[in-house]
Amino acid sequence: MERASCLLLLLLPLVHVSATTPEPCELDDDDFRCVCNFSEPQPDWSEAFQCVAAVEVEIRGGGRSLEPLLKRVDANADPRQYADTVKALRVRRLTVGAAKVPAQLLVGALSVLAYSRLKELTLEDLEITDTMPPLPLEAKGLALSSLHLRNVSWAAGRSWLAELQQWLHPGLKALSIVQAHSLAFSCEQIRAFPDLTSLDLSDNAGLGERGLIAALCPHKFPALQNLALRNTGMETPTDVCAALAASGVQPHSLDLSHNSLRATANPSAPRCVWSSALNSLNLSFAGLEQVPRGLPAKLSVLDLSCNRLNRAPKRDELPKVDNLILDGNPFLVPGSALPQEGSPNSGMVPACARSTLSVGVSGTLVVLQGVRGFA
Ligand SMILES: *[C@@H]1O[C@H](CO)[C@@H](O)[C@H](O)[C@H]1NC(C)=O
Ligand SMILES: *[C@@H]1O[C@H](CO)[C@@H](O)[C@H](O)[C@H]1NC(C)=O
Ligand SMILES: *[C@@H]1O[C@H](CO)[C@@H](O)[C@H](O)[C@H]1NC(C)=O
Repeated sequence: MERASCLLLLLLPLVHVSATTPEPCELDDDDFRCVCNFSEPQPDWSEAFQCVAAVEVEIRGGGRSLEPLLKRVDANADPRQYADTVKALRVRRLTVGAAKVPAQLLVGALSVLAYSRLKELTLEDLEITDTMPPLPLEAKGLALSSLHLRNVSWAAGRSWLAELQQWLHPGLKALSIVQAHSLAFSCEQIRAFPDLTSLDLSDNAGLGERGLIAALCPHKFPALQNLALRNTGMETPTDVCAALAASGVQPHSLDLSHNSLRATANPSAPRCVWSSALNSLNLSFAGLEQVPRGLPAKLSVLDLSCNRLNRAPKRDELPKVDNLILDGNPFLVPGSALPQEGSPNSGMVPACARSTLSVGVSGTLVVLQGVRGFA
């Protein structure tokens, strides 16, 4: 099992350091969740050994480069030799964060984990250096059901998703790429994601409708049902409709909340007909003073909560909708419609303004307003 702990740690070898430092790892009483934060200057990686029994494992590298570890990994080792040990691991959810990771180390870990029963992988605050080598013929891809990437930068530039994809089994169901450094993919290199039903591109404030077309490579997401585009710089629902049509994507549910939306499209913009597959549309926290034009004719759910509607929408302004959510609009909250000079949330119902704030504080939105840089 000693070997398994190494593997769990991205193939990190055991490095013993006289341990006077605080414990970097914590395993809960049920042996379910294990969290390691190696923020010490000379971390004792062997502490991660206690995570071998856990189902959920979270490892943070204190922002350091893992390059030195590469020297200790046998690049020619056949991952199949670890198969039995790795199969015995209970880990289903793994989070790796805060490190600079050579691509070679990442693919080493992915090829070994391919023998595990890992279902959900999260990579956060990582810088992946170098480009990823192709998957060797005899290797099998990691069969994840969901992959979450937040603030991961890739030396591979526009090819990063295509390179990463080779190391994954094609059955991926949920993918999120938030705070991305590049979403302008080279589409011709990407293979289709035949089973992908949920795609979350939220918190990419510089994306916009044009960036969305570049990110949604045509015909690569044939099974997509849920598309989340919170805080992605979208401007009007009509332009989003056009971008989806251009990409051939027909989601059942579309989340456009936390975008500063305009109600009327550019007059020169062509009319866009929404796919009839769309049945749930979230336009909350979008700063709307009126119901946008050109919404789908029929929806099960339309969320217009926390906007700036000063009067109840008229029936002919709305689609046919089963569940209309209007909470947190000024017309429902007497006295709240008076804009307060200089306040960033002027015209917003207090309950909604608080909620925006709490989102910011929890680390998603505010930080991200500044993150731009789409190629
Ligand atoms: C890890 O430890 C560092 C230093 O103690 C701390 O600043 C950071 O917030 C910790 N990270 C997590 C996820 O707990
Ligand atoms: C993103 O990740 C890098 C490390 O690659 C880190 O230095 C930076 O602080 C992270 N940014 C945010 C907004 O968390
Ligand atoms: C719409 O989005 C907001 C904010 O992202 C969220 O709080 C709300 O639950 C969503 N509404 C629906 C119906 O899912």
